[in-house]
Amino acid sequence: MASQSLAKIIANQQLNSKDYRLLISAPQIAKEAQVGQFLHLQCKEGIDPLLRRPFSIHDYDRQQGEVAILYRVLGKGTKQLLERRPGQEIDVLGPLGNGFDLTNTADKVVLVAGGIGVAPLVPLAKELIELDKEVAFLLGAANELELLCMGELEQLPLQLKVATIDGSLGHQGYVTELLEELLADSYGQVFACGPEAMLAAVQEITLKAGVEAQLSLEKRMGCGTGACLSCVCKVKVQQGSGFEYQRVCSEGPVFRADEVIFDE
Ligand SMILES: Cc1cc2nc3c(=O)[nH]c(=O)nc-3n(C[C@H](O)[C@H](O)[C@H](O)COP(=O)(O)OP(=O)(O)OC[C@H]3O[C@@H](n4cnc5c(N)ncnc54)[C@H](O)[C@@H]3O)c2cc1C
Ligand code: FES
Repeated sequence: MASQSLAKIIANQQLNSKDYRLLISAPQIAKEAQVGQFLHLQCKEGIDPLLRRPFSIHDYDRQQGEVAILYRVLGKGTKQLLERRPGQEIDVLGPLGNGFDLTNTADKVVLVAGGIGVAPLVPLAKELIELDKEVAFLLGAANELELLCMGELEQLPLQLKVATIDGSLGHQGYVTELLEELLADSYGQVFACGPEAMLAAVQEITLKAGVEAQLSLEKRMGCGTGACLSCVCKVKVQQGSGFEYQRVCSEGPVFRADEVIFDE
């Protein structure tokens, strides 16, 4: 059962020209949060349920009762979110969805983050390190200024590789080109979050290499709780060659790479 609450905004900090970090006081969410789950936020103050928007849980401090999201400003909702000020209250639904499945995790894992898709992968990296896994983190963005969480990732005991489309830092090109190289080096599992084209490339590369992968999908959402069906994606049925629709908000947002069907 999704729980709705009013959370106090602690900080709403600008990270670069497009991206922000929102920190809220939400003890119950911090207590329950699992990596890969998301929050459905009412971006504007007041009663306007049409303006709820989904954001991955980026950080949580169970002791302090605080939760953070990273958001990229794109349209109406995120523009309203950047107007929100510390001290104000924000209506939050969550934590929602099924996060990453960490049962039977391989000893050596690769995390692939594209743009703002880094948000749920930083806490995932921390959790995998706690579980004593060897983590390679591939961080991709359009350019150096849009590479998020670099400082934090550099402090963690993991192998960090960077790719930018314009070549301003690290490998010039797609982050998935780094994945192809790494998989030759006995990595047993991949976790990815980012734009759909990146996830489709991760799917193709991991299926070809015979390596298990989990993908965190993004779809436009309405209710966020399974009722409106606005967020469905195509998933292969277990037997036969057909597919069924599943709800990203409820069955996802994390799916196995070998079951997702991306539209052409
Ligand atoms: C489970 C989940 C987790 C997410 N986590 C994050 C996160 O951590 N940080 C973050 O910045 N964003 C995240 N998103 C995407 C975020 O929800 C959208 O960017 C946001 O809803 C856009 O709202 P808007 O009103 O500003 O834009 P709109 O005015 O609604 O749309 C502006 C543009 O963004 C596109 N867009 C809108 N919603 C989505 C969406 N859900 N997926 C893909 N494209 C969309 C539209 O097609 C349009 O081109 C996540 C989405 C999902 C489903
Ligand atoms: S957003 Fe309504 S069913 Fe997923």
